[in-house]
Amino acid sequence: MGTGCIYKIGHNPNTQTEGINLEKTNVIKLNLRKKQIFQTQFSEASFMELTTPRSGTHIKWRRGDLIGEGAYAKVYQCLNIITGELLALKTFYISENPRKIEREFQQMRKEIRVLKTLNHENVVHYYQADLSEDLKSVDILLEYVPGGSLKSILIKYKSLEISVIKNYSRQLLRGLNYLHDNKIIHRDLKPANVLISPTGMLKLTDFGSSKQFDDLESNLSKSLKGSPYWMAPEVVRMEGHSFSADIWSFGCILIEMVSGKPPWSNYSNDSKAVMELISKEGLLPDIPSTEPLLQEIITHCVNRNPNERPSPPELLESEFFKN
Ligand SMILES: Nc1ncnc2c1ncn2[C@@H]1O[C@H](COP(=O)(O)OP(=O)(O)O)[C@@H](O)[C@H]1O
Ligand SMILES: [Mg+2]
Repeated sequence: MGTGCIYKIGHNPNTQTEGINLEKTNVIKLNLRKKQIFQTQFSEASFMELTTPRSGTHIKWRRGDLIGEGAYAKVYQCLNIITGELLALKTFYISENPRKIEREFQQMRKEIRVLKTLNHENVVHYYQADLSEDLKSVDILLEYVPGGSLKSILIKYKSLEISVIKNYSRQLLRGLNYLHDNKIIHRDLKPANVLISPTGMLKLTDFGSSKQFDDLESNLSKSLKGSPYWMAPEVVRMEGHSFSADIWSFGCILIEMVSGKPPWSNYSNDSKAVMELISKEGLLPDIPSTEPLLQEIITHCVNRNPNERPSPPELLESEFFKN
């Protein structure tokens, strides 16, 4: 359009300038607010401490293609520009709504805090978290799992063979056992949050809904988090839930690996209706016919009474996983 700016008839150029100035002032205000939140929210265990890389050296990276997207973040492949290693980058875009950012930072901080403490072959490895210079995003650097999620495997290959189910679920239980030993409830176990490497290694990911208990006194959580299909009845009914809620979700993942479809999908694909079904007293998801030992495990895991569900070590001891 050249250098001349064309204004609409009747449009006063001064108003345009005022508009731009007002916008600039708002952006400055918002950025100040973000910095303020960093200082207050992240002061007690300073954000610097949270973002310090595990390895000691700060990884320099370059963003690549989008490889996944969840409810809260976008996940990209990225390149370590010193070593050439491929990594995953989970990017949280900070909203421009000043009333929302405080909660968003809290959420990210919680996820980073949990990830930082974890070190297990069946849990995705965390490297570092960076705050973007423009304050528009927080980028969490993770181990890249090129196979993608169990969800994408189920979409592509539908129901899985018993030996594959055995391999995946054994690793899932090992990862879960590690989390529970560290007093962490995942709270959003579902195929989209389970990653599979090209060699068939399973890695649990997405700790955005997880809960870490510092003491056993507070060992009951009442908030509603997670995805309806895999949610335990006590979670949906908000009656308070504990580690056994992850076992119900594990049972639901087994159902999905056997049948190729999420539990309750025979009844409805509307999340609100599914939540109503789950909360209905006495109702259980359909258990697909499969090897009796596996069917027995599923039945134990999707027990409506959380106290009657087996723990990961008990499950790993079962005949099904022994050979
Ligand atoms: N480390 C990773 N390597 C490869 N793909 C990943 C990785 N982390 C996440 N993904 C992909 O991105 C999707 C969303 O990631 P997730 O952490 O679950 O985000 P959200 O918290 O938004 O649900 C996953 O379902 C998976 O397909
Ligand atoms: Mg997710």
